[in-house]
Amino acid sequence: MLHLAATLALVLPAAGPQETDALVLTPEQRELALEFSPLPDPPPDPTNAVYENEDAARFGQALFFDTRLSGPGNVSCATCHDPAQSFSDGRPRAMAVKLGPKHTMSLWNVAYGRWFFWNGRKDSLWSQALTPLEDFREHASSRLQIAHVIADDAKYRDAYATLFGALPALDDTARFPAEGRPVYRQPEHPHSQAWATMTAADQNAVDDVFANVGKSIAAYERNIVSRHAPFDVFVEGLRENDAEKQRALSPSAQRGFALFAGKGKCLVCHDGPNFSDGEFHSNRAPTEENADPGRPFGVRELMRDPFNTRGRHADDGGEVGRQKLEIVGRPVHLPGEFKTPTLRNVARTAPYMREGQIATLEDVVEFYSSLDGALPLHRSSEQILQPLHLTDEEQADLLAFLRSLTDESLPARFLGPPASD
Ligand code: HEC
Ligand code: HEC
Repeated sequence: MLHLAATLALVLPAAGPQETDALVLTPEQRELALEFSPLPDPPPDPTNAVYENEDAARFGQALFFDTRLSGPGNVSCATCHDPAQSFSDGRPRAMAVKLGPKHTMSLWNVAYGRWFFWNGRKDSLWSQALTPLEDFREHASSRLQIAHVIADDAKYRDAYATLFGALPALDDTARFPAEGRPVYRQPEHPHSQAWATMTAADQNAVDDVFANVGKSIAAYERNIVSRHAPFDVFVEGLRENDAEKQRALSPSAQRGFALFAGKGKCLVCHDGPNFSDGEFHSNRAPTEENADPGRPFGVRELMRDPFNTRGRHADDGGEVGRQKLEIVGRPVHLPGEFKTPTLRNVARTAPYMREGQIATLEDVVEFYSSLDGALPLHRSSEQILQPLHLTDEEQADLLAFLRSLTDESLPARFLGPPASD
């Protein structure tokens, strides 16, 4: 911190007369702002060999918007992660084939995450995508059905073959039934029974196709990036000492940032240029399902997931995954901890929290201010959040800052199925 302050003193001259109306942050606060922008390119994923492959992204984009991947034929990823609704759905809890228990997370900047889902039960973007496809409330499909959809569509079959090699002999329906998957703890489920008729080698071949579907979808999701918000222009203005760019953030929004990074302590969890530390905390927001164990359950699920990153589907031979999963249980996670969501585009993704239980951004700020109804903390939990007792003006400032993180300027070519050649 200290050496940074010294460097900055050289870079940033004391506020000149033309700056005083536009720039209200102290030099220390400006220094802090530099740590929140720019957001770099998404990190690589060595467990996914096609992560940065444009053909895979295009194939994955088609799959993302394709309702044929669902059991009933009318659900795609975009049913819930709708680009027109900031890659969420505007509902408190997700609804496709059946009502789900959780709020749809927006997909902005997912490629920066280490763990996925509110409880982090997935450790790669590609393995995350496999869950909704087989969830009976979401796509309600099966890996065999999905493999057949790809085999039966000439364009998909070609795209797949170019990226991953030939598909297994799926037209042999005696070996590869139309639907099937191992349904956890339900051996009598028709999907489990169909799956059980297959040889282990054929099951593995279908699992490979399934993992490759996830890897292609992840390559598409890597493009869903938001990093040119007014806040970013402002920080660029600080770096370049450009008064015009500094005006991208109103004095109110600047005071809001000072609160966020100062007495609000929001930055303890919403840290860094994606405004999330990617880890798990309790923000004490009450829900109907206060008993949801959150992160400890997520860790258990992750450990037994055959598609986790230390398993045979990881393209780096499991190296990254072995390190990641070795440390995942330490420190011990406490019940009630959930993934810190990004705050980028947060003004566009109401309602809020893991069950969508807080309707508006105003209500979120009011909750952090009063902590009315806050869940009690576990005895050994981190004690970060205290009631802030914000004045009306401070709440307005914090809101102005949160709204300054809005940038939905994703190129139109990513907002629907890929244009056909
Ligand atoms: C029925 C609505 C629905 C459908 C369909 C759906 N999702 Fe989701 N998505 C959700 C919900 C709800 C969550 C949070 C669930 C949880 O944490 O338990 C979520 C979470 C995610 C996450 C985790 C984000 C993060 O920051 O950790 C990603 C990535 C994602 N979905 C991608 C997809 C993809 C890809 C598909 C299609 C294969 C898909 N979703 C289909 C509702 C849906
Ligand atoms: C102790 C860590 C922590 C601190 C400190 C914290 N948050 Fe959060 N925040 C979270 C977690 C975890 C969630 C998701 C909780 C859930 O869904 O149950 C969240 C959710 C949110 C959401 C809803 C996002 C969404 O997509 O649903 C907003 C907005 C938000 N926080 C803003 C703030 C602001 C503003 C502050 C400071 C006043 C703050 N947070 C302080 C951890 C924290």
